[in-house]
Amino acid sequence: MFADDELALLIKSKYPVVFVESVDEQHVIVHLIQIAQQLNLNYYEWSVTNGLRRKYLKDAYYETQEPVKALKTILDLKDPSAQNGDALFVLKDFEKNLEDAVVLRLFKDVINVISNTATTIVILSSRYKLPPEIESCAAHIIAGYPTEEEIISEANATIGAYCKNHKATEVRLTPEEEERMIAALKGLTTQQVKNVVNQCLVEDGIVDGKMVPRVEKLKKDIFDREGLLEFCTPESNARIANFSNLKRWLAERKGTFSAKSKLPAPKGVLLMGVQGCGKSLAVKVIAGELGLPLYRLDLIRFYSKYIGETEQNLRKALKTIDQLSPICLWIDEIEKNFASSSDGDIDGGVSMRLMGTFLTWMQERTSSCFVAATANNIYSLPPEFLRKGRFDEMFFVGLPDQKTREELFSIHISKRGLDSTNFDCASLAGLAADFNGAEIEQAVVSALYCSTSRREKIKTDHIAAEIKATKPLAVVKSEDIAALREWAAGRTVPA
Ligand SMILES: Nc1ncnc2c1ncn2[C@@H]1O[C@H](COP(=O)(O)OP(=O)(O)OP(=O)(O)O)[C@@H](O)[C@H]1O
Ligand SMILES: [Mg+2]
Repeated sequence: MFADDELALLIKSKYPVVFVESVDEQHVIVHLIQIAQQLNLNYYEWSVTNGLRRKYLKDAYYETQEPVKALKTILDLKDPSAQNGDALFVLKDFEKNLEDAVVLRLFKDVINVISNTATTIVILSSRYKLPPEIESCAAHIIAGYPTEEEIISEANATIGAYCKNHKATEVRLTPEEEERMIAALKGLTTQQVKNVVNQCLVEDGIVDGKMVPRVEKLKKDIFDREGLLEFCTPESNARIANFSNLKRWLAERKGTFSAKSKLPAPKGVLLMGVQGCGKSLAVKVIAGELGLPLYRLDLIRFYSKYIGETEQNLRKALKTIDQLSPICLWIDEIEKNFASSSDGDIDGGVSMRLMGTFLTWMQERTSSCFVAATANNIYSLPPEFLRKGRFDEMFFVGLPDQKTREELFSIHISKRGLDSTNFDCASLAGLAADFNGAEIEQAVVSALYCSTSRREKIKTDHIAAEIKATKPLAVVKSEDIAALREWAAGRTVPA
């Protein structure tokens, strides 16, 4: 369901107050006017600059820029003897005024008068904030994201307007490219859709397949700026050594996210295990194999000074995720994002509540979002995440065996533009017995630096020397790794 339908439902369901959080005020206003029309409500709008006005009337009620006057006017309008009919009052940025005791008192009076009637007060603002006593009788909704049809019409209108002034503009999109373009524009506000399309048009005036990656790049910039979700690049299957069980699991589920698929799409996997063994890389491969755009949710970045805002940020991000879906949602080191319940007291229970919000979302979401989470330290991972049914599968990622290490050397040598068949990968793998993938990569990179500085052509010996000079993490932390392996046996599937 789209946020705008939800908005109509909330207003219809007779909540006295609905808080609409949106960065796209204009878009929401257009919808509110439509909703008022459909539900036969008189539409009023208030802002601190214009005061309270009835729709289609130019003049505001006398001196209603003043919040106290505005609320008194609403009380007068709602006086039963006035018989004015039910109404929708849209108050822009009104939440700030509720810090004032007189305003708050009057606002409660208004609520008392309108509760159990079809009249609703909508507070429209870009930031959610309500005093607790109002919060209990208010609904909160994040709105203003256009539907797919609206995205198409907005993009077409923007291109149309540009074509009018620039006769040379060409539009060449195959149906598949068009689909990808719409996917790339999802999750943006109407204004952002317009801006992104315009920016691409100004750059080279042709609408074709090449525009899709540019739109994706601009969207990534917007997301990075807003700090809610990070847009990441998926990887191909060939970039990762081993992970044969995961690869098979994915191959069986490929295509379940397409609209044509009859099979239910999987919900998610948890990858846990030893550091540097490719968990994060595997998530990128998952997105690549399932053909889904990849977004990373980083709650650690969310923890803000204002305790309440972290939860709000999470709710907002989850809403955006539902809008963007189908996507692959990556939560790296999930145990750090949702600290264990025993830490609950330290941060006033915030991480507990965040986890609750997240788990509820995981359980109840209807959007097709694939959650790929990684964990290093299963001991600090709240047990709620391990309960059956949260993830379709839990994979354990252990240290690479001889064959995998050979493959790792081959992959990382080729990645640097060298021919791996010129190297003795088998003997290197034998030397690097306790190495993880990251350490093998590091040995190849260091050898490359060393040989370049000596003006020598890189050979097996250079890499072997680097291996001998490294003390792998597995040796330093052998006890930890053994404990982890023991824990995983029987609980997880090897990746
Ligand atoms: N199986 C693998 N195939 C190819 N490269 C690998 C593999 N495992 C590790 N690497 C290399 O090591 C680097 C680090 O791996 P990655 O970050 O995915 O490990 P991780 O398990 O997420 O580690 P951490 O627990 O420290 O986050 C990768 O960028 C990749 O180049
Ligand atoms: Mg990682």
